[in-house]
Amino acid sequence: MAHPSTLGGVAILATALAAAPAAAATLSTAPFGTTTDGKPVSLTTMTNDHGVVVKFMSYGGIITEIVTPDRHGHLANIVLGFPTLHEYETKSAEGGLYFGALVGRYANRIARGHFSLDGHEYTLAINNPPNALHGGLKGFDKQVWEVQPFSTSGQSVSAVLRYTSPDGEEGYPGTMKIAVTYTLTDGNAFIIHYQATTNKDTVLNLTNHSYFNLAGSGSPNGVYQQVLTVNADQYTPTDKTSIPLGQNVPVQDTPFDFRTPTAIGAHIRANDQQLIWAQGYDHNWVLNKRSDAAGPELAVRAYDPASGRTLECATTEPGVQIYTANFLKGIYAGNGGIYRQTDAFTLETQHFPDSPNHPAFPTTELKPGQSFDSITQFRFGVRQ
Ligand code: GLA
Repeated sequence: MAHPSTLGGVAILATALAAAPAAAATLSTAPFGTTTDGKPVSLTTMTNDHGVVVKFMSYGGIITEIVTPDRHGHLANIVLGFPTLHEYETKSAEGGLYFGALVGRYANRIARGHFSLDGHEYTLAINNPPNALHGGLKGFDKQVWEVQPFSTSGQSVSAVLRYTSPDGEEGYPGTMKIAVTYTLTDGNAFIIHYQATTNKDTVLNLTNHSYFNLAGSGSPNGVYQQVLTVNADQYTPTDKTSIPLGQNVPVQDTPFDFRTPTAIGAHIRANDQQLIWAQGYDHNWVLNKRSDAAGPELAVRAYDPASGRTLECATTEPGVQIYTANFLKGIYAGNGGIYRQTDAFTLETQHFPDSPNHPAFPTTELKPGQSFDSITQFRFGVRQ
């Protein structure tokens, strides 16, 4: 079955994955080792009737594998990761890699680890000098979440991940209760639904930090030939420490213009100060939004001409940080081989970096009585 759609005025025909004669979606959970501080960790495996497999750990809500078929039906794992919990606790943590992680309380950077709220000054750990990054020294990506599978229609499987972040954890105010639901559907969508409440005014920014390579994790050619279409007329330039300069600017006539399908490698070597400072792409794109939008809207399409795999990302978030794995230095072997710069891209749907210090950006504040609600959907397919 084919379903036509458009982005940036360009018609794209994505072919849904051929239905295998398998049963409906399934879910199973098994032990996956123990953290260095003695907490048991589980690995949950979700499958659907098209051969798609998503695996995630209770540690950090980390997605360890996403297996999808290519245009010939050959399966490959399209996210970077490690085979063991221990490697996530050591390599991913030491290297500041956040492979597959559920990132919070504040995904992305807060300048110099400072923000003020209601007249109070808050100070965070400087774990990405000179800034605070991705929730601190022990962010949500390093906590063990409670995982509860729940019953489904038979055409999808879901699990809710719960964590209560205590008042003052990593310097953030308010006890925050977070519930994140992972769903895999027989329609080849993997949906992440984030919900949170607080008992004091606070800030939050949640994302998933999967590193995608549609040719397969560890494949030798990196992602230069993989094609992105980004539904954004503007992006957020930063200083050399990746903190927004303040204004969002048009992507037109810059290497950040992915409004029509463009290979990741097409402009990544352009002599552009933003690309030099970040050592590649590591920027927030300001997603175009319809004023009447009620649910997730298309943010990014990715396509790998070699394998035929496609990935569509839709979100209710206002931005997406696209990062070309610039800090992978070839010093860690993971699933499929050694990981190097530009071996993957992330699609970190989120609010803009350093929003607590930029009142003009969409707010990241959450108050008692409010419910944070955010959805990001990744949809897998192939093109012939
Ligand atoms: C995000 C950041 C990057 C980097 C990675 C993790 O994408 O923007 O600068 O910190 O996370 O390595």
